[in-house]
Amino acid sequence: MSTESPARPFRRRMAPAVAHALALGSMGSLSLFAGVACSPSGEGGAASASTAPKSTAPASTAPKSSPPATQPPPPPRPAASAEAGEALYARYCALCHGPRAEGYGADNAPSLVSSTFAATVTDDFLRAGITLGRPGTAMAGFGREVGGPLDEVGVDSIIAFIRTLHTVPRMAPPPFTAMSDAENGRLVYEKHCQKCHGTVTQRANAVHLFNPALLATASDAFLRHAVVNGRPDTPMEAFSPVLDGRATNDVITYIRSQAGKLPPLSSLHAPAPAPAEALDPHHGHDHGPVGGPPPGAPPVPAWGPIPLNPQGGAPKFTLRDGRFAPMAEVKKALDEKKKIIIVDARAPSDWLTLHIPGSVPLPYYDLKLIDRIPNDDTWVIAYCGCPHHASGEVVDALRRRGHKNSAVLDEGMFAWQKANYPVVQAPGMAGIAAPPVYDTHGMPQPMPSGPGPGTKRGK
Ligand code: HEC
Ligand code: HEC
Repeated sequence: MSTESPARPFRRRMAPAVAHALALGSMGSLSLFAGVACSPSGEGGAASASTAPKSTAPASTAPKSSPPATQPPPPPRPAASAEAGEALYARYCALCHGPRAEGYGADNAPSLVSSTFAATVTDDFLRAGITLGRPGTAMAGFGREVGGPLDEVGVDSIIAFIRTLHTVPRMAPPPFTAMSDAENGRLVYEKHCQKCHGTVTQRANAVHLFNPALLATASDAFLRHAVVNGRPDTPMEAFSPVLDGRATNDVITYIRSQAGKLPPLSSLHAPAPAPAEALDPHHGHDHGPVGGPPPGAPPVPAWGPIPLNPQGGAPKFTLRDGRFAPMAEVKKALDEKKKIIIVDARAPSDWLTLHIPGSVPLPYYDLKLIDRIPNDDTWVIAYCGCPHHASGEVVDALRRRGHKNSAVLDEGMFAWQKANYPVVQAPGMAGIAAPPVYDTHGMPQPMPSGPGPGTKRGK
């Protein structure tokens, strides 16, 4: 499928690669990607979008030294820098991927620095992963193209920072040429991979290999290199001692054959609530002086009214560990029209694809939005997909500010969705949600051990 060519710029390369996958997977609208591909923003042209409208001030009030007739040239597009990227990484990514991108801070988020990943990952792969996320997993899209907080300079700065953590030379993985026996690949997958990577539709605890957003940007050679050599210092061990070249090719062929459909990204927006309070369009966005979001980007979600059911009585929760509200009790409180505020602790791009009705976006990285929440006895329930980390950050901040009636939704968004509780969902999301497997406390189950002796007890 796609070949890796690290040197070419994202705007000219990633969009066609993903658009190609979209075309293969569905006839869906490419409008958003068309916006990405054709947007002049990367060249600084987007500055024209931010060019201030002509002054409407009456001439008499015009300042003495009125501006020259021609507009000053737009400010140059700021350069991406690893220093800026370090700060952005700390704000947006460290929660899950850990402070040095070693992975496993939360949600079994993978390492971004293992030697085999560092050697073979392209900037385009990183850019697509960060910008678009992995729909249906805890990995949100952070690009403004999908309603996230980062513009392309922000994304590139984070990539520059991640590259400073890489300690091995970059290399192209050996080419993958031979598509082989997908049916045998399925057997190999079920025996050796499924316990960690899950099934086609159900994520387990490792990266979901069937995620259409992953497969749209990962080459077969990149995937096979990971299988053969593992991801050192992670639970992903090298399979070269276990699988011969043929079986390895078969398993890659199987994974590729099951590539899900990537819905048109422009459809990944759930209906917005009647806006009670529109966010400042620049609010929570990390961008240089290039102006507003790119063409085709979804609007920053407005907050619907809070609290829900202002006339209702107070709900009752039996909190686990003084902190976690069982989702059945939260559902009951909503059904019984209790007075409650539900906040979504994820990036707004995630809220746009899937959220609990009546919830308002209060991302873990934008805690000053807590100022908008009345500081009285009203219960505030925070949720995320993780299922506890981002929401835990929000509840900690709420409690520090004296909101004692605040709690984390115990099992998280994906368990809520799986229980068939009410959700507002973008149409494109239907087929691809792949929540992690949780235990009864809503914690992702521990990762089983890797290959080695354990593989001997196969089926
Ligand atoms: C809420 C937790 C969370 C946050 C915050 C988060 N990630 Fe992720 N990230 C994940 C998970 C989980 C995955 C694996 C998704 C899957 O199952 O396929 C992932 C996958 C990735 C991947 C793909 C890795 C691979 O091997 O395929 C990249 C790149 C990435 N994240 C970068 C980032 C960056 C950069 C940020 C900050 C802008 C970030 N992530 C923020 C949870 C998170
Ligand atoms: C013991 C659990 C485990 C088993 C078994 C396992 N994996 Fe993995 N795999 C992981 C984890 C965890 C990662 C992410 C590692 C990291 O943090 O970079 C991973 C990463 C990968 C990646 C890289 C994905 C990316 O985006 O970078 C591929 C490809 C992969 N595994 C394929 C397989 C295949 C194929 C098999 C079976 C032959 C398999 N794995 C078996 C746990 C496992």
